[in-house]
Amino acid sequence: MFESSLNQDRAYIAGEWVSAQSGQTFDVINPATAERVGRVPDMGVADVDRAVAAAHEAFNSWKNTTAKERASLLRRWYELIMAHHERLAELMTAEQGKPLHEARGEVAYGASFVEWFAEEAKRTYGEQIPSPKADARILTIRQPVGVVAAIIPWNFPVAMITRKVAPALAAGCTVVLKPASDTPLCALALASLAAEAGIPSGVINIITTADSKAVGDHLTTHPQVSKISFTGSTGVGKHILKLAADSVKKVSMELGGNAPFIVFDDADLDAAVTGAIASKYRNAGQTCVCANRIFVQRGVVAAFLERYRDAVAALRVGPGDESGVDIGPLINADAVANVERLVQEALALGAELVTGGARSERAALFYQPTLLHNVNEQMSIANEEIFGPISTVFVFDTEEEAIRRANDTPFGLASYFYARDIGRIWRVAEGLEYGIVGINEGLISNEVAPFGGMKQSGIGREGARQGIEAYLETKYMLMGGLG
Ligand code: SIN
Repeated sequence: MFESSLNQDRAYIAGEWVSAQSGQTFDVINPATAERVGRVPDMGVADVDRAVAAAHEAFNSWKNTTAKERASLLRRWYELIMAHHERLAELMTAEQGKPLHEARGEVAYGASFVEWFAEEAKRTYGEQIPSPKADARILTIRQPVGVVAAIIPWNFPVAMITRKVAPALAAGCTVVLKPASDTPLCALALASLAAEAGIPSGVINIITTADSKAVGDHLTTHPQVSKISFTGSTGVGKHILKLAADSVKKVSMELGGNAPFIVFDDADLDAAVTGAIASKYRNAGQTCVCANRIFVQRGVVAAFLERYRDAVAALRVGPGDESGVDIGPLINADAVANVERLVQEALALGAELVTGGARSERAALFYQPTLLHNVNEQMSIANEEIFGPISTVFVFDTEEEAIRRANDTPFGLASYFYARDIGRIWRVAEGLEYGIVGINEGLISNEVAPFGGMKQSGIGREGARQGIEAYLETKYMLMGGLG
């Protein structure tokens, strides 16, 4: 089905395609059809040791390449990803389930990080600082932190890799990457293209495993790993932070969200509906930045709900490779069970079902695009990441109330609001305790902007010029005796 260089069935360590030392494998399943789309090594801690040793060895030479050399190799990797755009998108849809048009978008989005950090590689400037002593000079230089452990979720099997690996490589670090067990195939395909681009052996290493806990724990406590970059749930993030504390590893954490999406009474309602659909139903609702709570001001609730209901009900559910599909399957049976639990509990506590509310008849892992009205903060659905195609509408009266309720969560990743009044726009944008604020816009992700969360949504920023900082140390040098 796929071009052979992108269709890898072994892991990648020290520039070689390798099996697990145990010889074990596990299947990769298409969530739309329950068919096997691949079989990859089920690696363990001995394989982690091998990968970290390879990354550690490669670091000695990679850190001494010039920024220009690293930039050229990253640029070549970017070009190869774009040259294989369609094949990568097909592979992504097969293992992750998202509609093909979204997979195409993600490949381009993922590639954009490689292009961006190829450029940023050349801009990791140090400083010359005016010295307090006449016979001394003070300089800073930036140096790569070392071996990076990158732990990647299943919801964006290309972009979450490149958002970490591209800045790490640009900075001069080497990487051991653990993709999610649901979606290892895109990671292996990216490694294959990196090898073709000429990125040297050991600079990128990929460990595939079905035992994320054992492998993740070993990787994140390994003495030769200097930095952990994790995207995933806040619960797992806290666990990794505790493990990292023992050896004081550097950490970047992109964790869960509970995004408010506020529609004020002066909003352009058609634009708000378009933005809410884009934010909520991207990847069948399985993103950390999906609108999780839609707050609508009382005066426009009826008008908003009518338009939004029609837009939600028009979304087409089906396998991602079927033309015209908007909503693919959820990733696995646990994800469907979780969505069912949240919806059933909300309905039992008084939420009103406007559309959807059940599994789709398409196949086991499909859930209908759903809209619930009159949701409140006593319901679990208001307090947990939904990670499914469910919109929840809350009603509010005042601007102050909207900000207070939007902020009433331990999370602080993305937020959105629609309004026209310029004073309100500034007050609300500044009042929201979130790392990202979409103003009259439902899609906020791109490579040039700093992506990341406040509060329990994370530590650090990815993308933008800030994205490379996480992989660099600042060294200060005082040169004395110059008088
Ligand atoms: C995520 O869900 O963690 C990432 C979403 C994005 O990059 O837009």
